[in-house]
Amino acid sequence: MSPKMKKALNDQIALEANASSSYLAMASWCEVTGYEGAASYFYAQSDEERTHMLKVVHYLNDMGANATIPATKVPSASYKSLETLIKTALKNEQTVTAAIHKMVEISQKEKDPSTYAFLEWFVNEQVQEETKFETLLQKFDLIGRDKLAINEIDKYLAAQATAEAEPAA
Ligand code: FEO
Repeated sequence: MSPKMKKALNDQIALEANASSSYLAMASWCEVTGYEGAASYFYAQSDEERTHMLKVVHYLNDMGANATIPATKVPSASYKSLETLIKTALKNEQTVTAAIHKMVEISQKEKDPSTYAFLEWFVNEQVQEETKFETLLQKFDLIGRDKLAINEIDKYLAAQATAEAEPAA
């Protein structure tokens, strides 16, 4: 594997680790604010990001390129509202998507078909991740932003967290 590709994949470990810790902080804020559904949703999302990070760690190690485990940034501890929090989550995902697309480009330039194939899963996953948060943001326009509406959105998030926790039939 080329040094450039290796660096990009190691940088991705940091991005996924930061996403996991950022979603953990979001979950914790939701929990103490009383948004139980959103808390479950973001605790699960944090776990998911950790699995993404591990995929890259294992891939680098399997390729004999040795993964580097990074320090993580201190995430924001509080949010103005649930909507602001979800907007931040969408922005995080857009940053991750851009990094993955950049890696696809590097894998093509560096003639690295193994990494190119490895990245396909991440490309598809990002489409789903962005759609998920865009759909959530639409709920605020559709249902509203008053207390009752936020409660409905929290219930929707609880249902989503449960649905995602259930193994696919
Ligand atoms: Fe692993 Fe949500 O990016």
